[in-house]
Amino acid sequence: MLDKISQTKTQLETELNSISSLIDLDNFRIKFLTRKGIIAELFEELKSISIEIKPHIGKVLNELRTFAQNEFEKKNLEFESVKNKSQKIDLTIPGKKNWTGTKHPLTQTLGEVKRIFSQMGFQIAQGPEIEDDYHNFEALNFPPNHPARDMQDTFFISEKILLRTHTSPVQIRIMEKQSPPIRVIIPGRVYRNEAISSRSYCLFHQVEGLYVDEKVSFSELKGTLVAFVKQFYGSNLKYKFRPSFFPFTEPSAEMDISCFLCNGKGCRVCKFSGWLEILGCGMVHPNIFKNINVDTEKYSGYAFGMGIERIAMLLYGVDDIRLFYENDVRFLKQF
Ligand code: DAH
Repeated sequence: MLDKISQTKTQLETELNSISSLIDLDNFRIKFLTRKGIIAELFEELKSISIEIKPHIGKVLNELRTFAQNEFEKKNLEFESVKNKSQKIDLTIPGKKNWTGTKHPLTQTLGEVKRIFSQMGFQIAQGPEIEDDYHNFEALNFPPNHPARDMQDTFFISEKILLRTHTSPVQIRIMEKQSPPIRVIIPGRVYRNEAISSRSYCLFHQVEGLYVDEKVSFSELKGTLVAFVKQFYGSNLKYKFRPSFFPFTEPSAEMDISCFLCNGKGCRVCKFSGWLEILGCGMVHPNIFKNINVDTEKYSGYAFGMGIERIAMLLYGVDDIRLFYENDVRFLKQF
């Protein structure tokens, strides 16, 4: 019996040395370590061994089983670590961060403007960016020699075709198609042939407003714009309307709000005046209505226009308009 045990040990050691795969290792386990394996068979034989030598042989056999089990575990661990190395899993590496994009600050600002005016019953309309002289200037009551028609300010495509310099021509396009009541805001891109600087860019965005109906008054215009600025900038801000001039409105005004950065005390952003100009507005000029055959006895209207970049710059404290167009992620991800 002792011979058999030592032969088994020799066999087991040879086979251990020739294990080169997980399959070999499993075969080894089946051959020696299972209930029908060689070692179990030896334990079966032990039962019929005479009682005097049984304890001694039993001890040697137990040592063989422990040896076989330990060797099996060792080999198994070796295979595991080789597997981990070959897959190059480094569990200490921090996970990859998934960056999600954010909405562009201009889109966010425009979204908020749209939301507020939609709540007040304004619909959203659009018009072409490539315009003709008639809609961009003539129908809006710009005299033929008005400086805005100058090549300095306008990108002309041909003598009568240009990139729109404001969203006001869409007022005309809407009134040509639709009769009052009209209550729309018109967001969109506009273009100006200006020297690029921190304050002006060759393109920017405006939101135009137009309300035409019977008996529309200047106080309604004021009420609507005051409601807008209070929702947009905060309810305890101060405001004022200053007389101004636009060819397509009469009377015309510009709206200023108290600087929300310094509360009107005076700072760099408001140029130490305590006030910020935020939009132009007025009552639709009768000449406009005449140009498109709207009955001026029956209808009146108001219009307003504001620059999205300007209000976004004020809102977020951005001091260079070019940042909106450079697509620098370090800038954009702050919003
Ligand atoms: N179109 C003007 C501009 O680009 C802004 C403006 C002023 C629009 C007064 C209006 C308005 O509708 O009533 O400077």
